[in-house]
Amino acid sequence: MATNITWHPSLSRSERNTYRKQRGFTIWFTGLSASGKSTIATALEQHLLHLGLAAYRLDGDNVRFGLNKDLGFSEKDRNENIRRIAEVAKLFADSSTIAITSFISPYRADRQTARELHAVTPSSDEPLAFIEVFVDIPVEVAEQRDPKGLYKKARAGEIKEFTGISAPYEEPENAEIRIRSDQKSVEEAVQEIVDYLNSKGLLK
Ligand code: PPS
Repeated sequence: MATNITWHPSLSRSERNTYRKQRGFTIWFTGLSASGKSTIATALEQHLLHLGLAAYRLDGDNVRFGLNKDLGFSEKDRNENIRRIAEVAKLFADSSTIAITSFISPYRADRQTARELHAVTPSSDEPLAFIEVFVDIPVEVAEQRDPKGLYKKARAGEIKEFTGISAPYEEPENAEIRIRSDQKSVEEAVQEIVDYLNSKGLLK
């Protein structure tokens, strides 16, 4: 922990939102590998951009090429992966952007920490909204899909600590939105999320 540091006051969140003409918040996707979270998150990002809103997606695989290239898939590394992503998402949201994250984020406690982080605000500003989207499919369906051949490798013991096979996935208990991606099209899933955002007045 660094010492001798001071928090500098900046523009208020509401002032920034007024200038940018949109509210920033975070949409946090969680689900097994091959659940469809990145596909739905990408389609959502595109939809929001078409509406003229600033949105940016942070993706599990992609972030591990840069910011988090020092992290593997042990529980400790996944904790740190999600901690950093939560901080980055919060920065995007604070800049009046819609941050969309698509990470397995298998541990309930890590997702809860990310949620609580968004509620912390140094000024009298309102907290940033945090919407958890659980992309839910049975692990057998994910394993059948196996677009990257990772489940096959995990079964063969070539990948250790693979989520759903040899590492845990703790399902959300109170996600704002739950999508059975094997029972819905990508378009239907995006519409469901957009309807939810509108019902909360977040896209105004
Ligand atoms: S986590 O659990 O949130 O830290 O994982 P995440 O950063 O989202 O990275 C998941 C992607 O990494 C690939 N991959 C693995 N996933 C799970 N377990 C193990 N051991 C593993 N090794 C590599 C995989 O491509 C995941 O991408 P998605 O898009 O989820 O399939």
